[in-house]
Amino acid sequence: MLAWIVTGVCLFYLLVNFLLLHWAGVKPLARFINDENHLNATLARLLKPRWPGSLGHSQVRDFLLQELLDLGFHTDRDEFVDGVAFTNVMGTINPEAPNFLLLCCHYDTENLTDVEGYLGATDGAVSCAILLNMAKTLGPYLREELRKRLDIGLALVFFDGHEPMPTDRKDSSALRGSKRFVRMETLPLESIELAIALNFIGAPAQAYMSHYDNTYMLHNRLAEIELDLRESGQLAPCHLLFQKLKDHDLPDDHYPFLDEGNLVY
Ligand SMILES: *[C@@H]1O[C@H](CO)[C@@H](O)[C@H](O)[C@H]1NC(C)=O
Ligand SMILES: *[C@@H]1O[C@H](CO)[C@@H](O)[C@H](O)[C@H]1NC(C)=O
Repeated sequence: MLAWIVTGVCLFYLLVNFLLLHWAGVKPLARFINDENHLNATLARLLKPRWPGSLGHSQVRDFLLQELLDLGFHTDRDEFVDGVAFTNVMGTINPEAPNFLLLCCHYDTENLTDVEGYLGATDGAVSCAILLNMAKTLGPYLREELRKRLDIGLALVFFDGHEPMPTDRKDSSALRGSKRFVRMETLPLESIELAIALNFIGAPAQAYMSHYDNTYMLHNRLAEIELDLRESGQLAPCHLLFQKLKDHDLPDDHYPFLDEGNLVY
């Protein structure tokens, strides 16, 4: 299972790398080295029960903040209390930029009483590890080239409070962190050019389809990049991940952004 996760996510972050560079209008200056050791080590730090109020939760929160700092990001934490304390974690490059690409995931797990030691691997952890691993892989570009482009910024947001608390209805995500982010405009909403929410990544049969008409072109661009990488032999063999198909969507941390009219993917 974990091996599949790693194969799948490596491709995914490679594709996001390309999207970011394409958006910034630059050609990659250097080959980016796939650092699977870092991905594995990062994931290992996240795979622990981390429901709000638990020790694992504060350890993971502190780990995310420290990693972002070490990777050269400006960091922000937004704490709020709703029964227990929640903390959204954000890392930015060019925090004053007028336009942002926002990539997000959630780091909390649900406090499941019927599953002891629930780790939430695909439900949050892998997505968070991908964001940090992408930041590591793109490090030289982010710290040198993107810093010179004050018109655009990158925001990595790790939402808290995604999962329902024991007092919430069980059949839905609570999305406390992302709703709060949008309500407080932790980043001005009008500066967010595109929000990409990563979740449920790592299943063996993983495939990505488009959920929104207005970002269908971007989705297809990623699908074409995957095909190019396959043709040039740069991908380990596996099934097609980005498919030029449309699918229905699931409520997730991008919903609050949609309500405000942001472009999401
Ligand atoms: C990362 O973890 C996966 C799954 O356990 C393993 O197959 C792979 O060899 C690991 N990669 C490295 C570089 O250690
Ligand atoms: C989490 O679950 C444990 C075990 O069921 C329980 O003792 C604890 O009160 C719960 N904590 C929260 C914050 O929900």
